[in-house]
Amino acid sequence: MKGIILAGGLGTRLYPLTYATNKHLLPVYNSPMIFYPIRTLVSAGIREILIVISGPYAGHFIRVLKNGKELGVKHLEYAYQEKPDGGIADALSQAEDFADKGPITVILGDNTTDADIAPEVSKFKQGATIFLKRIKNKEQIRRFGVAVFDAKNPEIITDIEEKPKTAKSEFAATGLYIYDSKVFAYVRSCRPSDRGEIEITDVNNLYIKNKTLKWVELKGFWSDAGTFETLYLTNVYWANKGGI
Ligand code: TTP
Repeated sequence: MKGIILAGGLGTRLYPLTYATNKHLLPVYNSPMIFYPIRTLVSAGIREILIVISGPYAGHFIRVLKNGKELGVKHLEYAYQEKPDGGIADALSQAEDFADKGPITVILGDNTTDADIAPEVSKFKQGATIFLKRIKNKEQIRRFGVAVFDAKNPEIITDIEEKPKTAKSEFAATGLYIYDSKVFAYVRSCRPSDRGEIEITDVNNLYIKNKTLKWVELKGFWSDAGTFETLYLTNVYWANKGGI
């Protein structure tokens, strides 16, 4: 299994912090944000990693990560997303050659978690596995893609609704996914959404349509760190834990 970290985007919600460097290099307690998703992958035994970068500070990554050896990465590669705000699935499309028709574990560069994803990584055979987090707050969950479950069988997701007005469940899609090689064909078949991005939710909905999407609940702490509030809360969590 190879790993992909999506660290493109412009991080506009964190202006003026992201006028100076890339969001994923901002501090989360004692480490740059991107160390956390790297640690999640390396802890799951994934040591060949591609980082998709973009934007004005793409060059900063190499100064911080170098060849990744200090973080336990055996092989570190970078890919450049031409349109920095093309969307999460557009960033993922840069990874097709690296994936080389094999399965991939994908994590968003601003997501930190202390969950152990190793069991799902080693179990994975085909299709897609997505990690859901229970968010009871009805206002908070509306920021995410929200799962809709089959009324008779809650094992089955029938739809993922992107930023719905009213959430139909308490389960939000996190930024962690495991995909088989079909993902790149699915990305190619998606058109930009109203906000001009190729949406990962559309890709996941194609797996649902083909009845090949599984889900697991992510246990432990998980948050993105893309707003002032979540960046602050993420820092507090990891500071209390003593960092990584
Ligand atoms: P977002 O938080 O949706 O986008 P952003 O990072 O550009 O921030 P903002 O909305 O404040 O402008 O992205 C979530 C993650 O996905 C982020 O960690 C980086 C990644 N991403 C890409 O790699 N490429 C992209 O085109 C986008 C939009 C996001």
